[in-house]
Amino acid sequence: MDTIVFATNNEHKVEEIKSVIRGRYDIISLNEAGIAIDIPEPHATLEENATEKSSTIYRLTGKNCFSEDTGLEVEALNGAPGVKSARYAGEGKSPTDNIAKLLEELLGKKNRKARFRTIISLIINNSEYRFEGICEGAITEEPKGNLGFGYDSVFVPSGSSKTFAEMELEEKNKFSHRKKATVKLASFLSGFGKK
Ligand code: IMP
Repeated sequence: MDTIVFATNNEHKVEEIKSVIRGRYDIISLNEAGIAIDIPEPHATLEENATEKSSTIYRLTGKNCFSEDTGLEVEALNGAPGVKSARYAGEGKSPTDNIAKLLEELLGKKNRKARFRTIISLIINNSEYRFEGICEGAITEEPKGNLGFGYDSVFVPSGSSKTFAEMELEEKNKFSHRKKATVKLASFLSGFGKK
């Protein structure tokens, strides 16, 4: 089976993506590839950061690889925290602090609309391909649930009354931004090289 490196240190993301891609490709995380690196995310868009991560790992390993970058875009905050989602409350990247800051910024605001947007950047045989996944939803008044990661406990996807943190992965995958982008990646990979 061909191997593709997933350029992330986030084991939650690895589990989510492995749950979607099975079969022709063996997905290995940076950890499993024995690479210890914290790849910078210096750019102003998710697209550029995703490319930065995949191209860094491609340069380092010479192996086919992909990365993903996700942002939470809140309508009443003009799209913030967006590309800065991981470091919203500071360089510590603390999910608890990020959530506290988000709820504070939204205090008293009626418009709680938000969406998660994921960009996957795949580099295969020296060419780059990008895939996008979006999940619309809303931010709760307070955190609920303890599954998942990041902002999951304050995000309710449209079509559900539960936060992502109240859902097992199988249920989160019915709505998830990452699942949608990954399905596009999987479909591309399953056709790749067959022509
Ligand atoms: P990054 O893509 O790892 O830079 O993630 C940006 C920020 O969004 C981090 O704070 C993550 O914890 C958070 N995040 C990414 N994906 C999800 C998700 O599926 N649910 C909740 N939070 C997420």
